[in-house]
Amino acid sequence: MRTIIEPFRIKSVEPIRRTTRVEREDALLRAHNNLFALHTADVLIDLLTDSGTGAMSSEQWAGIMRGDETYAGAISFDRFQSAVRDVTGFEHVIPTHQGRAAEHLLFGLLGGPGRVIPNNTHFDTTRANIEVGGATAADLPCAEASDLHSDELFKGNMDLEALERVLHSAAASVPLVMLTITNNAGGGQPVSLANMRAVRAICDRYRVPLFLDACRFAENAWMVRLREAGQHSRSPREIARAFFDLAHGCTMSAKKDGLANIGGFVALRDPAIAEELRARLVVTEGFPTYGGLAGRDLEAIAIGLEEVLDPDYLEYRHASIRYVVERLRAREVPVVWPAGGHAVFLDARQFLPQLEPAEFPGQALALELYLEGGIRSCEIGSVMLGRNDPVTGVLQPARHELVRLAIPRRTYTQSHMDYVLEVIEAVWQRRESIPGVRISKGPSVLRHFRAEFERLPLRAEALR
Ligand code: F0G
Repeated sequence: MRTIIEPFRIKSVEPIRRTTRVEREDALLRAHNNLFALHTADVLIDLLTDSGTGAMSSEQWAGIMRGDETYAGAISFDRFQSAVRDVTGFEHVIPTHQGRAAEHLLFGLLGGPGRVIPNNTHFDTTRANIEVGGATAADLPCAEASDLHSDELFKGNMDLEALERVLHSAAASVPLVMLTITNNAGGGQPVSLANMRAVRAICDRYRVPLFLDACRFAENAWMVRLREAGQHSRSPREIARAFFDLAHGCTMSAKKDGLANIGGFVALRDPAIAEELRARLVVTEGFPTYGGLAGRDLEAIAIGLEEVLDPDYLEYRHASIRYVVERLRAREVPVVWPAGGHAVFLDARQFLPQLEPAEFPGQALALELYLEGGIRSCEIGSVMLGRNDPVTGVLQPARHELVRLAIPRRTYTQSHMDYVLEVIEAVWQRRESIPGVRISKGPSVLRHFRAEFERLPLRAEALR
């Protein structure tokens, strides 16, 4: 059979609500044009994030009932620890309430003023956790990552020469090197096994440990299987294990490839660092056998880590992203290519070439997708990643102006995606009459969550 079907049937459903254009305009006004401030009842298809928004399986719900809520030494922790050890091979497993808590814990210990932490591309929370401690977060994406439309298969890779340069000049101030798999901020693009091996070899030469930001490790493994020579006959589990075998540890948000609604962990080999992390964990997250999670959450993650490596699931997962990306490309809508692992990324700079970076084309486009069809997406451009010069206030734009349509796992069907395609197409047809936006109020750290925006008046040439 040629059709790749959803490898599950639906046991429980959650109604979604249609709204009128007038209701959506009103909702946006109340949200100050920040999509994070919308109420879910006003959103028809929610593609804001793939994080914690997936559907759990009947097995996971059964696990929820089995959750052992004991403070110390819970059986659910043993199951969680075994599942993480099984997938990663890391001896020490430290649960946290989500990925950023794992980052906070790790960089609280290993970061600090004068330190530099290289990554292929830091995600926003990772960067923030490094920077609040006074360290520097260095992005070292490969050169191929800058061309959003080329056929290059591993645009998530790290720039090896750049890493060599950083370590050559300052290895003593680099406590660890990170690789984010997949590279979320760079378009959900995978990192190849070959690149990981090369990064590890450089790290070894300078005696610096390598950590993975492993949020989407299974999706990365599937794309390695599809795209990398010599990997086609290996199972996703084997490939994933090959990633972890190359690393000294990882941070993880179980809200992505843990197929859970909440949770995360740090896992690593070094017993001394693990002990120090556990001591810190008790202060902010909780006792080391639950770390900010309920026993039931630990169960859901343990089962999720098994299910996420099922080849049928991963085949469907990747096909569902590719379905949207290929159709958009066929209609010449500018979309990041090749299809990544968890999301469809529109290239807002090409979609709205009439807008300057300071008019935030990504935010402008995301607002239109909501107004047109009640779809909530997320700007990953100069709102999220740009910076204003502290002296002049002038915007230093982000490398790309993207709008991410993140697809929650096992949640929407193909007809939902057909609707999403129709909405994007309708906005594409009237792209020349889309106005820019300006930030009317914005905090300095992670401003995209809380900023308020105003839609700018249309320029005269667009009105003609
Ligand atoms: N690392 C990456 C690559 C991520 O994408 C995220 C979260 C985190 C770390 C932090 O994990 O949310 O559990 O604290 N990304 C979500 C997103 C929020 O929408 O991409 P968390």
